[in-house]
Amino acid sequence: MTQDTLTPAQVHEAMTTRWIGRNYQYLPATTSTNDLLKAQAVSKSGSSIPAGTVILTDYQEKGRGRLSRNWQAPAGSSLLFSILLRPNWPVEQFSWLTMIGGLAVSDVVSRLITLPAQLKWPNDCVIEQNSTWKKYCGTLLEGHFADDGQLAFVVAGIGVNVNIPEEDLPAATFPATSLLAVQGSAISRLDLFCAILARFEHYYDLAEQGQSPLTAWQDRLIFMNRRVVISQFGKEATVEGTAVGTDSEGRLLVRDEEGVLHHIAAGDMAMRQDLEP
Ligand code: BTN
Repeated sequence: MTQDTLTPAQVHEAMTTRWIGRNYQYLPATTSTNDLLKAQAVSKSGSSIPAGTVILTDYQEKGRGRLSRNWQAPAGSSLLFSILLRPNWPVEQFSWLTMIGGLAVSDVVSRLITLPAQLKWPNDCVIEQNSTWKKYCGTLLEGHFADDGQLAFVVAGIGVNVNIPEEDLPAATFPATSLLAVQGSAISRLDLFCAILARFEHYYDLAEQGQSPLTAWQDRLIFMNRRVVISQFGKEATVEGTAVGTDSEGRLLVRDEEGVLHHIAAGDMAMRQDLEP
């Protein structure tokens, strides 16, 4: 497949959304699309940047993941983009954005690939390849609060490993994969990108009308009713027990050996393969 480009002309022609991505910027390379979009939104004229603005790049020099990790992808191989959102929602619904990101990507990928695309709490999109769950996409949601404490905007960063050959996949504690590695053939980034934006807008519009993505998101989570270990950023002690579900704000519920139920807001989840469920 010849390298597909994602210039504004090509994207605008293929795009089906009403508002997400209508203001679209493409850069061959940048530091991080999240950093760039945030800088634009906080700049003096930032309030005029419309919700739904999308920045996409072919290469990030300083791509960021959750928990202060890096996010790397070879130039032109992947989808690396950020969406500006201005939700006027109660703070408790903030986690809906993570859910919407995961649902949007996995809806589209499930249609493309013959394998079920699922989600790993809290923000990973995963696929089962050779009996192992592997991550092909992650989302990074960053809220910005004004001086009065009100949420001013959110930058939703999405990184999808699309056409990365198996041998170029980054090494990670939780194994990484790409859609190319799973499917065996290259995928049009343009079609994938436009389809993800459309699904994102669909779920976001429903959320604006008060319809929660929670149940759909919960239904797609792996490792439920399994023995898991959760490491939390900045905390040495891990939480170990059975993942029994999530609460309405998307916090993971883990019941430990003593029967204590832990509500975990953010962290890294690993399954204890050496223990029975
Ligand atoms: C994670 O799984 O830890 C989240 C990864 C998020 C990566 C995307 S790529 C586009 C956007 N810009 C960044 O610097 N990060 C996000």
